[in-house]
Amino acid sequence: MPDLIEPHVRVRESFLTAVEESLADGRMISEDSMIARWIRQYADRWHTEAGFAEFVDHLHADATPDAARPSHHVPQSTWWLVDGDDYLGRISSRHVLNDWLLEYGGHIGYEVRPSARRRGHATAMLRAVLPHAHALGIDPALVTCDETNVASRKVIEAAGGELEDVRGVKRRYWVPTGAMPRKAGRMART
Ligand SMILES: CC(C)(COP(=O)(O)OP(=O)(O)OC[C@H]1O[C@@H](n2cnc3c(N)ncnc32)[C@H](O)[C@@H]1OP(=O)(O)O)[C@@H](O)C(=O)NCCC(=O)NCCS
Repeated sequence: MPDLIEPHVRVRESFLTAVEESLADGRMISEDSMIARWIRQYADRWHTEAGFAEFVDHLHADATPDAARPSHHVPQSTWWLVDGDDYLGRISSRHVLNDWLLEYGGHIGYEVRPSARRRGHATAMLRAVLPHAHALGIDPALVTCDETNVASRKVIEAAGGELEDVRGVKRRYWVPTGAMPRKAGRMART
C-alpha cells in the first residue's frame, strides 16, 4: 500500500525515472511549474547522491518561512507518494495564499507520474494530505484545476470540494480539511 512521506533520498532512482516520464509525456511543462523549477535548479546534479540530497534538503527548507525563495512564492510543504522505493507522485501545500494563488493557484497542487495514473493515487493523495493542511492552519483549502482537467476535477470533488466559481480557465474549489477523510492514506515518517 502506498505511503505519503516527506521527500527522501531513498527514492532517488525512481524519482529521476518519473521526471523522464513526465518530460516524455508530451504535455507542455509550463516555465513556472514546480517540475520546471526543480529541473532548472537541480537537474545538473541530482543524478549524484550529494546533488539529490541537496534537492531533498531544499524541499524541506521550502516549508520554512525564512528559506530563500522568489518574492512571489510562499512557504510550502511537499510530500511524495511512494510504494517502497518507487516514487508515484507528489503533492504540495502552500502555507498561505498570495493574490495569484487566491485567484488561480490555490493551496494544494499535485501530480502523479504518467505510468501510475488512473489507479486512484491522486484521489488517495489529496485525501491523505488534508489533515496536514489542517495542521498548517488551512481550513478550508483552495484547490483549483483547469476546466478541461476532468481527472483533477474528479479528485477534488471526491475530497468534498465545493465549487466557488470559475475564473478564466480555472475551476476554484474549497475543500474542508478538518474531518478525517474516509480513505485517508497512511503517513510515514522517515
Ligand atoms: C490529474 C492527475 C493528478 C490524476 O491522477 P490519477 O492518479 O490518475 O487520478 P485518479 O486515479 O485518482 O483518478 C481520479 C478520477 O479521474 C478519472 N481519470 C483519471 N485520469 C483521467 C483521464 N485522463 N481522463 C478522464 N478521467 C480520468 C479516474 O477514472 C477517476 O474517476 P472516478 O473517481 O470516477 O473513478 C494526473 O492525471 C496528473 O498528474 N496529471 C498532470 C498534472 C495535473 O494535472 N495535476 C493536477 C493539477 S490541478
